Amino acid sequence: MTTCPVPHGSVPLSGPRFQTDAAQVYRDMRRDHGAVAPVVLDGGVPAWLILGYRELHQVTNDPVLYSRDSDLWSQWENIPDDWPLLPMIGHKQPSILYTVGERHTARAAMIGNALEAVDPFALKRYAEEFADDLVDRFCSTGRTDIIAEYAMLLPARVLARIYGFGDEILGPLVGAINDLIDGGEGAIAGQQLLGGAMYRLLADKHAEPGDDVASRMLQDPGGFSDEEVAQDLMVMMAAGHQPTADWMGNSLRLMLTDDRFAASLSGGRHSVAEAMNEVLWEDTPTQNVAGRWASRDTHLGGRHIRAGDLLLLGIAAANGDPQVRTDGSALTGGNNAFLSFGHGEHRCPFPAQETAEVIARTGIEVLLDRLPDVDLAVPEDRLTHRPSPWLRGLTELPVHFTPTPALGGQQ
Ligand code: HEM
Repeated sequence: MTTCPVPHGSVPLSGPRFQTDAAQVYRDMRRDHGAVAPVVLDGGVPAWLILGYRELHQVTNDPVLYSRDSDLWSQWENIPDDWPLLPMIGHKQPSILYTVGERHTARAAMIGNALEAVDPFALKRYAEEFADDLVDRFCSTGRTDIIAEYAMLLPARVLARIYGFGDEILGPLVGAINDLIDGGEGAIAGQQLLGGAMYRLLADKHAEPGDDVASRMLQDPGGFSDEEVAQDLMVMMAAGHQPTADWMGNSLRLMLTDDRFAASLSGGRHSVAEAMNEVLWEDTPTQNVAGRWASRDTHLGGRHIRAGDLLLLGIAAANGDPQVRTDGSALTGGNNAFLSFGHGEHRCPFPAQETAEVIARTGIEVLLDRLPDVDLAVPEDRLTHRPSPWLRGLTELPVHFTPTPALGGQQ
Protein backbone atom coordinates (compact mmCIF):
# COMPACT_ATOMS: atom_id res chain seq x y z
CA MET A 1 0.00 0.00 0.00
CA THR A 2 1.46 3.40 -0.95
CA THR A 3 1.43 6.11 1.64
CA CYS A 4 -1.40 8.55 1.30
CA PRO A 5 -0.98 12.28 1.89
CA VAL A 6 -2.32 12.64 5.43
CA PRO A 7 -2.60 16.25 6.66
CA HIS A 8 -0.42 17.10 9.64
CA GLY A 9 -2.18 16.62 12.98
CA SER A 10 -4.75 14.15 11.63
CA VAL A 11 -6.51 12.18 14.37
CA PRO A 12 -6.61 8.37 14.07
CA LEU A 13 -10.23 7.23 13.94
CA SER A 14 -9.47 4.15 16.01
CA GLY A 15 -8.01 3.22 19.36
CA PRO A 16 -9.23 2.47 22.87
CA ARG A 17 -10.55 5.98 23.63
CA PHE A 18 -13.47 5.46 21.22
CA GLN A 19 -14.39 2.51 23.41
CA THR A 20 -13.97 4.21 26.77
CA ASP A 21 -14.44 7.91 26.28
CA ALA A 22 -15.84 8.70 22.83
CA ALA A 23 -17.63 11.93 23.82
CA GLN A 24 -14.39 13.40 25.18
CA VAL A 25 -12.53 12.40 22.00
CA TYR A 26 -15.00 14.44 19.95
CA ARG A 27 -14.73 17.42 22.33
CA ASP A 28 -10.93 17.30 22.02
CA MET A 29 -11.14 17.10 18.23
CA ARG A 30 -13.51 20.07 18.12
CA ARG A 31 -11.23 22.10 20.37
CA ASP A 32 -8.15 21.28 18.26
CA HIS A 33 -9.64 21.30 14.76
CA GLY A 34 -13.04 23.03 14.74
CA ALA A 35 -16.14 21.71 13.00
CA VAL A 36 -14.35 19.58 10.38
CA ALA A 37 -11.36 17.53 11.53
CA PRO A 38 -8.74 15.70 9.44
CA VAL A 39 -8.73 12.04 10.48
CA VAL A 40 -6.81 8.99 9.43
CA LEU A 41 -8.41 5.56 8.95
CA ASP A 42 -6.85 2.08 9.16
CA GLY A 43 -3.83 1.81 6.86
CA GLY A 44 -3.11 5.56 6.92
CA VAL A 45 -6.08 6.52 4.74
CA PRO A 46 -7.08 10.22 5.08
CA ALA A 47 -10.66 11.49 5.52
CA TRP A 48 -12.56 14.39 7.09
CA LEU A 49 -14.80 13.93 10.11
CA ILE A 50 -17.68 16.40 10.30
CA LEU A 51 -18.17 17.31 13.95
CA GLY A 52 -20.39 20.39 13.55
CA TYR A 53 -24.19 20.08 13.61
CA ARG A 54 -24.62 22.86 11.03
CA GLU A 55 -21.93 21.45 8.77
CA LEU A 56 -23.47 17.97 8.94
CA HIS A 57 -26.80 19.46 7.86
CA GLN A 58 -25.09 21.26 5.04
CA VAL A 59 -23.38 18.11 3.75
CA THR A 60 -26.37 15.78 4.03
CA ASN A 61 -28.62 18.41 2.40
CA ASP A 62 -26.47 18.62 -0.74
CA PRO A 63 -26.23 15.14 -2.29
CA VAL A 64 -24.77 16.50 -5.53
CA LEU A 65 -21.78 18.32 -4.02
CA TYR A 66 -21.39 15.71 -1.26
CA SER A 67 -22.19 12.54 -3.12
CA ARG A 68 -22.79 8.98 -1.99
CA ASP A 69 -20.93 7.79 -5.10
CA SER A 70 -17.74 6.17 -3.84
CA ASP A 71 -16.32 6.05 -7.40
CA LEU A 72 -15.43 9.70 -6.82
CA TRP A 73 -12.84 8.80 -4.19
CA SER A 74 -9.34 10.03 -4.97
CA GLN A 75 -7.75 7.32 -2.79
CA TRP A 76 -8.73 4.19 -4.70
CA GLU A 77 -5.20 3.58 -5.98
CA ASN A 78 -4.03 3.42 -2.34
CA ILE A 79 -6.67 0.98 -1.13
CA PRO A 80 -5.73 -2.72 -1.12
CA ASP A 81 -8.33 -5.41 -1.86
CA ASP A 82 -8.27 -6.61 1.74
CA TRP A 83 -8.65 -3.18 3.36
CA PRO A 84 -10.75 -3.92 6.47
CA LEU A 85 -13.08 -0.94 5.97
CA LEU A 86 -13.90 -1.84 2.36
CA PRO A 87 -17.26 -3.48 3.17
CA MET A 88 -18.31 -0.24 4.87
CA ILE A 89 -17.29 1.94 1.94
CA GLY A 90 -19.17 -0.49 -0.29
CA HIS A 91 -17.32 0.02 -3.54
CA LYS A 92 -19.08 -1.45 -6.60
CA GLN A 93 -21.85 -2.69 -4.34
CA PRO A 94 -25.13 -2.28 -6.21
CA SER A 95 -27.23 -1.45 -3.13
CA ILE A 96 -29.27 1.65 -2.35
CA LEU A 97 -26.45 2.95 -0.18
CA TYR A 98 -24.29 3.83 -3.17
CA THR A 99 -27.01 4.69 -5.69
CA VAL A 100 -27.44 8.38 -6.48
CA GLY A 101 -29.90 10.75 -8.19
CA GLU A 102 -33.33 9.74 -9.50
CA ARG A 103 -32.65 6.04 -9.24
CA HIS A 104 -31.88 6.53 -5.57
CA THR A 105 -35.12 8.46 -5.02
CA ALA A 106 -37.11 5.63 -6.65
CA ARG A 107 -35.26 3.01 -4.65
CA ALA A 108 -35.70 4.80 -1.33
CA ALA A 109 -39.43 5.07 -2.13
CA MET A 110 -39.58 1.32 -2.86
CA ILE A 111 -38.05 0.53 0.54
CA GLY A 112 -40.09 3.14 2.40
CA ASN A 113 -43.39 2.02 0.85
CA ALA A 114 -42.69 -1.67 1.43
CA LEU A 115 -41.97 -1.02 5.11
CA GLU A 116 -44.77 1.47 5.59
CA ALA A 117 -47.34 -1.11 4.46
CA VAL A 118 -46.44 -3.42 7.35
CA ASP A 119 -49.47 -3.66 9.66
CA PRO A 120 -48.31 -1.88 12.85
CA PHE A 121 -50.34 -4.24 15.05
CA ALA A 122 -48.78 -7.29 13.42
CA LEU A 123 -45.30 -5.75 13.84
CA LYS A 124 -45.92 -5.12 17.52
CA ARG A 125 -47.36 -8.61 17.97
CA TYR A 126 -44.34 -10.30 16.35
CA ALA A 127 -42.02 -8.21 18.51
CA GLU A 128 -43.95 -9.18 21.66
CA GLU A 129 -44.13 -12.87 20.75
CA PHE A 130 -40.45 -13.13 19.92
CA ALA A 131 -39.47 -11.09 22.98
CA ASP A 132 -41.55 -13.33 25.24
CA ASP A 133 -40.05 -16.39 23.59
CA LEU A 134 -36.51 -15.11 24.27
CA VAL A 135 -37.31 -14.18 27.89
CA ASP A 136 -38.74 -17.70 28.35
CA ARG A 137 -35.31 -19.12 27.58
CA PHE A 138 -33.63 -17.49 30.59
CA CYS A 139 -36.32 -16.25 33.00
CA SER A 140 -36.15 -19.28 35.32
CA THR A 141 -32.38 -18.95 35.82
CA GLY A 142 -32.33 -15.54 37.52
CA ARG A 143 -29.46 -14.21 35.36
CA THR A 144 -28.72 -13.37 31.76
CA ASP A 145 -26.62 -11.22 29.47
CA ILE A 146 -29.14 -8.89 27.84
CA ILE A 147 -26.88 -8.25 24.86
CA ALA A 148 -26.11 -11.83 23.76
CA GLU A 149 -29.34 -13.49 24.89
CA TYR A 150 -31.83 -10.80 23.97
CA ALA A 151 -30.85 -7.60 22.14
CA MET A 152 -28.73 -9.40 19.55
CA LEU A 153 -31.52 -11.83 18.73
CA LEU A 154 -34.72 -9.83 18.70
CA PRO A 155 -34.46 -7.23 15.88
CA ALA A 156 -33.12 -9.66 13.24
CA ARG A 157 -35.87 -12.13 14.04
CA VAL A 158 -38.66 -9.56 13.78
CA LEU A 159 -37.19 -8.05 10.61
CA ALA A 160 -36.76 -11.46 8.94
CA ARG A 161 -40.40 -12.20 9.70
CA ILE A 162 -41.81 -8.96 8.25
CA TYR A 163 -39.53 -9.22 5.20
CA GLY A 164 -41.22 -12.56 4.42
CA PHE A 165 -39.02 -15.37 5.77
CA GLY A 166 -40.71 -18.47 7.18
CA ASP A 167 -40.33 -19.53 10.82
CA GLU A 168 -38.12 -22.51 9.94
CA ILE A 169 -35.21 -20.34 8.79
CA LEU A 170 -35.38 -17.59 11.42
CA GLY A 171 -32.94 -19.28 13.83
CA PRO A 172 -30.09 -19.91 11.34
CA LEU A 173 -30.70 -16.54 9.69
CA VAL A 174 -30.31 -14.59 12.94
CA GLY A 175 -27.09 -16.51 13.65
CA ALA A 176 -25.78 -15.71 10.14
CA ILE A 177 -26.55 -11.99 10.47
CA ASN A 178 -24.75 -11.77 13.79
CA ASP A 179 -21.75 -13.70 12.40
CA LEU A 180 -21.65 -11.36 9.42
CA ILE A 181 -21.78 -8.21 11.55
CA ASP A 182 -19.24 -9.63 13.97
CA GLY A 183 -16.70 -9.72 11.12
CA GLY A 184 -14.93 -12.74 12.67
CA GLU A 185 -14.31 -16.26 11.38
CA GLY A 186 -17.95 -16.95 10.57
CA ALA A 187 -18.47 -13.73 8.62
CA ILE A 188 -18.04 -15.15 5.10
CA ALA A 189 -20.19 -18.20 5.83
CA GLY A 190 -22.80 -15.89 7.39
CA GLN A 191 -22.82 -13.68 4.32
CA GLN A 192 -23.22 -16.73 2.06
CA LEU A 193 -26.09 -18.11 4.11
CA LEU A 194 -27.83 -14.74 4.13
CA GLY A 195 -27.30 -14.21 0.37
CA GLY A 196 -28.53 -17.73 -0.50
CA ALA A 197 -31.57 -17.34 1.76
CA MET A 198 -32.38 -13.97 0.20
CA TYR A 199 -32.42 -15.32 -3.38
CA ARG A 200 -34.53 -18.32 -2.31
CA LEU A 201 -36.93 -15.91 -0.61
CA LEU A 202 -37.27 -13.88 -3.82
CA ALA A 203 -37.85 -17.02 -5.92
CA ASP A 204 -40.59 -18.09 -3.45
CA LYS A 205 -42.20 -14.65 -3.53
CA HIS A 206 -42.18 -14.55 -7.34
CA ALA A 207 -44.01 -17.89 -7.30
CA GLU A 208 -46.36 -16.97 -4.49
CA PRO A 209 -46.44 -13.31 -3.43
CA GLY A 210 -47.52 -12.62 0.14
CA ASP A 211 -48.31 -9.72 2.45
CA ASP A 212 -44.64 -9.03 3.19
CA VAL A 213 -41.85 -6.55 2.47
CA ALA A 214 -40.02 -8.72 -0.10
CA SER A 215 -43.18 -9.28 -2.20
CA ARG A 216 -43.94 -5.57 -2.19
CA MET A 217 -40.40 -4.70 -3.28
CA LEU A 218 -40.62 -7.17 -6.18
CA GLN A 219 -43.95 -5.65 -7.25
CA ASP A 220 -42.71 -2.05 -7.03
CA PRO A 221 -43.52 -0.02 -10.20
CA GLY A 222 -39.84 1.02 -10.38
CA GLY A 223 -39.15 -2.46 -11.79
CA PHE A 224 -36.07 -3.36 -9.77
CA SER A 225 -34.07 -6.47 -10.62
CA ASP A 226 -33.83 -9.41 -8.22
CA GLU A 227 -30.23 -8.45 -7.60
CA GLU A 228 -31.20 -4.91 -6.60
CA VAL A 229 -34.00 -6.13 -4.34
CA ALA A 230 -31.75 -8.78 -2.75
CA GLN A 231 -28.99 -6.22 -2.14
CA ASP A 232 -31.41 -3.79 -0.55
CA LEU A 233 -33.00 -6.47 1.62
CA MET A 234 -29.52 -7.36 2.86
CA VAL A 235 -28.84 -3.70 3.68
CA MET A 236 -32.21 -3.52 5.44
CA MET A 237 -31.32 -6.60 7.43
CA ALA A 238 -27.78 -5.62 8.44
CA ALA A 239 -28.39 -1.84 8.73
CA GLY A 240 -31.59 -2.54 10.61
CA HIS A 241 -30.54 -5.23 13.07
CA GLN A 242 -27.37 -3.96 14.73
CA PRO A 243 -28.31 -0.31 15.39
CA THR A 244 -31.70 -1.40 16.71
CA ALA A 245 -30.03 -3.97 18.99
CA ASP A 246 -27.60 -1.28 20.21
CA TRP A 247 -30.44 1.19 20.71
CA MET A 248 -32.13 -1.36 23.01
CA GLY A 249 -28.90 -2.20 24.82
CA ASN A 250 -27.81 1.42 25.32
CA SER A 251 -31.29 2.42 26.54
CA LEU A 252 -31.47 -0.49 29.01
CA ARG A 253 -28.00 0.40 30.29
CA LEU A 254 -29.18 3.96 30.91
CA MET A 255 -32.31 2.77 32.68
CA LEU A 256 -30.40 0.33 34.88
CA THR A 257 -27.65 2.75 35.87
CA ASP A 258 -29.26 6.19 36.12
CA ASP A 259 -31.40 7.08 39.14
CA ARG A 260 -33.71 9.22 37.05
CA PHE A 261 -34.92 6.03 35.38
CA ALA A 262 -34.28 3.45 38.06
CA ALA A 263 -37.00 4.87 40.30
CA SER A 264 -39.63 4.12 37.70
CA LEU A 265 -38.13 0.99 36.18
CA SER A 266 -40.94 -1.32 37.11
CA GLY A 267 -43.83 0.86 36.07
CA GLY A 268 -43.07 3.97 34.07
CA ARG A 269 -43.85 3.47 30.39
CA HIS A 270 -43.05 7.11 29.86
CA SER A 271 -39.50 6.63 30.96
CA VAL A 272 -38.81 3.95 28.32
CA ALA A 273 -39.54 6.48 25.58
CA GLU A 274 -37.49 9.09 27.41
CA ALA A 275 -34.53 6.80 27.83
CA MET A 276 -34.64 5.84 24.15
CA ASN A 277 -34.79 9.50 23.14
CA GLU A 278 -31.93 10.45 25.44
CA VAL A 279 -29.80 7.64 24.02
CA LEU A 280 -30.26 8.99 20.50
CA TRP A 281 -28.85 12.31 21.73
CA GLU A 282 -26.15 11.17 24.14
CA ASP A 283 -25.15 7.63 23.27
CA THR A 284 -26.32 7.02 19.72
CA PRO A 285 -25.63 3.61 18.13
CA THR A 286 -24.66 5.36 14.88
CA GLN A 287 -21.59 7.33 16.01
CA ASN A 288 -19.84 7.91 12.69
CA VAL A 289 -21.09 6.98 9.24
CA ALA A 290 -19.18 6.57 5.98
CA GLY A 291 -19.62 8.58 3.97
CA ARG A 292 -19.85 11.22 1.30
CA TRP A 293 -17.38 12.11 -1.47
CA ALA A 294 -16.85 15.71 -2.63
CA SER A 295 -17.70 16.03 -6.32
CA ARG A 296 -15.67 19.27 -6.66
CA ASP A 297 -13.31 21.48 -4.65
CA THR A 298 -15.17 23.35 -1.94
CA HIS A 299 -14.99 24.87 1.54
CA LEU A 300 -16.60 23.44 4.64
CA GLY A 301 -16.23 24.59 8.24
CA GLY A 302 -13.20 26.67 7.26
CA ARG A 303 -11.48 23.73 5.53
CA HIS A 304 -10.49 23.38 1.93
CA ILE A 305 -12.07 20.14 0.72
CA ARG A 306 -10.73 18.73 -2.53
CA ALA A 307 -12.76 16.92 -5.19
CA GLY A 308 -12.62 13.21 -4.38
CA ASP A 309 -12.09 13.66 -0.61
CA LEU A 310 -13.98 11.33 1.72
CA LEU A 311 -16.14 12.95 4.40
CA LEU A 312 -17.42 10.95 7.37
CA LEU A 313 -20.64 11.95 9.12
CA GLY A 314 -19.72 12.57 12.76
CA ILE A 315 -23.23 11.99 14.07
CA ALA A 316 -22.38 11.58 17.76
CA ALA A 317 -20.14 14.65 17.72
CA ALA A 318 -22.73 16.77 15.89
CA ASN A 319 -25.46 15.73 18.36
CA GLY A 320 -23.22 17.09 21.12
CA ASP A 321 -22.21 20.27 19.27
CA PRO A 322 -22.21 23.09 21.88
CA GLN A 323 -23.72 25.41 19.25
CA VAL A 324 -26.99 23.48 19.46
CA ARG A 325 -26.60 22.33 23.05
CA THR A 326 -26.15 25.76 24.59
CA ASP A 327 -27.77 24.86 27.90
CA GLY A 328 -25.88 21.59 28.13
CA SER A 329 -29.21 19.85 28.75
CA ALA A 330 -30.03 16.26 28.02
CA LEU A 331 -32.68 17.40 25.53
CA THR A 332 -35.09 14.69 26.50
CA GLY A 333 -38.86 14.97 26.39
CA GLY A 334 -39.34 14.22 22.73
CA ASN A 335 -37.00 16.63 20.98
CA ASN A 336 -36.13 14.76 17.79
CA ALA A 337 -33.61 17.12 16.25
CA PHE A 338 -30.77 14.63 16.75
CA LEU A 339 -28.95 13.44 13.63
CA SER A 340 -28.81 9.80 14.70
CA PHE A 341 -30.91 8.64 11.74
CA GLY A 342 -28.95 10.86 9.36
CA HIS A 343 -30.50 13.72 7.44
CA GLY A 344 -31.45 14.59 3.86
CA GLU A 345 -32.11 12.27 0.95
CA HIS A 346 -29.98 9.39 2.21
CA ARG A 347 -31.23 9.47 5.79
CA CYS A 348 -32.70 6.33 7.30
CA PRO A 349 -36.14 6.01 5.62
CA PHE A 350 -38.89 7.22 8.03
CA PRO A 351 -40.79 3.90 8.03
CA ALA A 352 -37.50 2.17 8.90
CA GLN A 353 -37.05 4.53 11.86
CA GLU A 354 -40.57 3.73 13.03
CA THR A 355 -40.01 0.00 12.62
CA ALA A 356 -36.81 0.22 14.67
CA GLU A 357 -38.58 2.22 17.35
CA VAL A 358 -41.42 -0.31 17.70
CA ILE A 359 -39.01 -3.25 17.93
CA ALA A 360 -36.68 -1.59 20.44
CA ARG A 361 -39.46 -0.16 22.63
CA THR A 362 -41.44 -3.42 22.66
CA GLY A 363 -38.28 -5.36 23.48
CA ILE A 364 -37.53 -3.11 26.45
CA GLU A 365 -41.13 -3.10 27.69
CA VAL A 366 -41.51 -6.89 27.53
CA LEU A 367 -38.24 -7.40 29.40
CA LEU A 368 -39.24 -4.98 32.17
CA ASP A 369 -42.76 -6.45 32.39
CA ARG A 370 -41.49 -9.99 32.70
CA LEU A 371 -38.55 -9.23 35.02
CA PRO A 372 -39.69 -6.24 37.09
CA ASP A 373 -36.77 -6.35 39.54
CA VAL A 374 -34.08 -6.75 36.87
CA ASP A 375 -30.81 -5.17 38.01
CA LEU A 376 -27.23 -4.90 36.87
CA ALA A 377 -25.13 -7.90 37.96
CA VAL A 378 -21.76 -6.10 37.75
CA PRO A 379 -20.59 -2.63 38.81
CA GLU A 380 -21.41 -0.04 36.17
CA ASP A 381 -17.74 0.73 35.50
CA ARG A 382 -17.18 -2.88 34.42
CA LEU A 383 -19.46 -2.47 31.40
CA THR A 384 -17.48 -2.24 28.16
CA HIS A 385 -18.25 -1.17 24.60
CA ARG A 386 -17.24 -2.88 21.37
CA PRO A 387 -14.00 -1.41 20.00
CA SER A 388 -15.61 0.38 17.07
CA PRO A 389 -15.68 4.08 16.20
CA TRP A 390 -18.70 3.40 13.93
CA LEU A 391 -21.44 1.67 15.88
CA ARG A 392 -21.57 2.10 19.65
CA GLY A 393 -22.93 -0.78 21.66
CA LEU A 394 -22.11 -2.80 24.76
CA THR A 395 -20.18 -6.08 24.64
CA GLU A 396 -22.28 -7.41 27.54
CA LEU A 397 -25.04 -6.27 29.89
CA PRO A 398 -25.12 -8.88 32.68
CA VAL A 399 -28.22 -8.70 34.88
CA HIS A 400 -29.91 -10.66 37.65
CA PHE A 401 -33.55 -10.87 38.70
CA THR A 402 -35.95 -13.04 40.70
CA PRO A 403 -36.40 -16.27 38.70
CA THR A 404 -39.88 -16.60 37.19
CA PRO A 405 -41.52 -19.46 35.27
CA ALA A 406 -41.59 -19.41 31.48
CA LEU A 407 -44.86 -18.52 29.79
CA GLY A 408 -44.28 -21.10 27.06
CA GLY A 409 -46.46 -19.40 24.49
CA GLN A 410 -49.36 -19.09 27.02
CA GLN A 411 -49.41 -15.30 26.99
C1 HEM B 1 -35.77 -1.48 11.14
C2 HEM B 1 -34.56 -0.99 11.28
C3 HEM B 1 -33.83 -0.20 10.21
C4 HEM B 1 -33.85 -0.33 8.85
C5 HEM B 1 -34.67 -1.31 8.02
C6 HEM B 1 -32.94 0.66 8.31
C7 HEM B 1 -32.71 0.85 6.96
C8 HEM B 1 -31.90 1.83 6.43
C9 HEM B 1 -31.63 2.02 5.01
C10 HEM B 1 -32.23 1.16 3.90
C11 HEM B 1 -30.78 3.07 4.89
C12 HEM B 1 -30.20 3.62 3.59
C13 HEM B 1 -30.93 4.83 3.12
C14 HEM B 1 -30.32 5.41 1.86
O1 HEM B 1 -29.13 5.18 1.56
O2 HEM B 1 -31.03 6.13 1.17
C15 HEM B 1 -30.52 3.56 6.22
C16 HEM B 1 -29.72 4.65 6.51
C17 HEM B 1 -29.42 5.05 7.78
N1 HEM B 1 -29.85 4.48 8.97
FE1 HEM B 1 -31.22 3.03 9.16
N2 HEM B 1 -32.39 1.38 9.35
C18 HEM B 1 -32.90 0.88 10.53
C19 HEM B 1 -32.59 1.28 11.81
C20 HEM B 1 -31.73 2.31 12.11
C21 HEM B 1 -31.38 2.75 13.46
C22 HEM B 1 -31.93 2.14 14.75
C23 HEM B 1 -30.49 3.79 13.32
C24 HEM B 1 -29.84 4.63 14.40
C25 HEM B 1 -30.27 4.81 15.61
C26 HEM B 1 -30.28 4.00 11.89
C27 HEM B 1 -29.46 4.97 11.36
C28 HEM B 1 -29.27 5.19 10.01
C29 HEM B 1 -28.45 6.25 9.47
C30 HEM B 1 -27.62 7.25 10.27
C31 HEM B 1 -28.55 6.18 8.07
C32 HEM B 1 -28.01 7.19 7.07
C33 HEM B 1 -26.67 6.93 6.53
C34 HEM B 1 -26.26 8.07 5.61
O3 HEM B 1 -26.82 9.18 5.60
O4 HEM B 1 -25.31 7.86 4.89
N3 HEM B 1 -31.05 3.10 11.20
N4 HEM B 1 -31.21 2.80 7.15
